[in-house]
Amino acid sequence: MTDLLAARLIRDIPDFPKPGILFKDITPVLANYAAFQEVIDHCVGWASGKAPDVIVGIESRGFVFGAPVALALGLGFVPVRKIGKLPHDTIREEYALEYGTNAVEVHRDAIQLGQRVLIVDDLLATGGTAAAAARLVETLGGTVIGFSFLIELEFLQGRAALDGYEIQALLKY
Ligand code: PRP
Ligand code: MG
Repeated sequence: MTDLLAARLIRDIPDFPKPGILFKDITPVLANYAAFQEVIDHCVGWASGKAPDVIVGIESRGFVFGAPVALALGLGFVPVRKIGKLPHDTIREEYALEYGTNAVEVHRDAIQLGQRVLIVDDLLATGGTAAAAARLVETLGGTVIGFSFLIELEFLQGRAALDGYEIQALLKY
């Protein structure tokens, strides 16, 4: 894990976006071709054994990783977006925040019955976002075959929210 270039490039930003939060900034990974490629290669290597039919990426940072993974696997890409962004017929799932709720949407025709779906995002924190994305996929009749994250914040126990699913995380803190 520590021999990854990405691990050396991710930087800690204290008190962002609010006091007390130590934010993991992945932008130096994206800016470095070798590091970015390394992250995508790891995800593709893991995912290819699982024979997904489609890649779902979660807005917004999940798009940056999910789209190149989809292309590398020769698959299509489906965006799960924050509310009000998708123009066609959508379904919605809410998830809990520290205070209140948020929601994500997907186009109703984006996932076909029986499709094997891999969900990609940059970060697993509480798991609320990823679990909501899984519910969207399953509502449309897809099968979630796993989740791939660049970073897992283990102390937030996001795996508990994704119980029963296969989870790959390249870097754990
Ligand atoms: C962050 C991160 C994950 C999510 C993880 O996204 O990119 O998507 O939070 O948190 P959770 O496991 O507690 O649900 P954010 O909603 O901040 O938006 P962004 O990707 O658009 O920056
Ligand atoms: Mg996000």
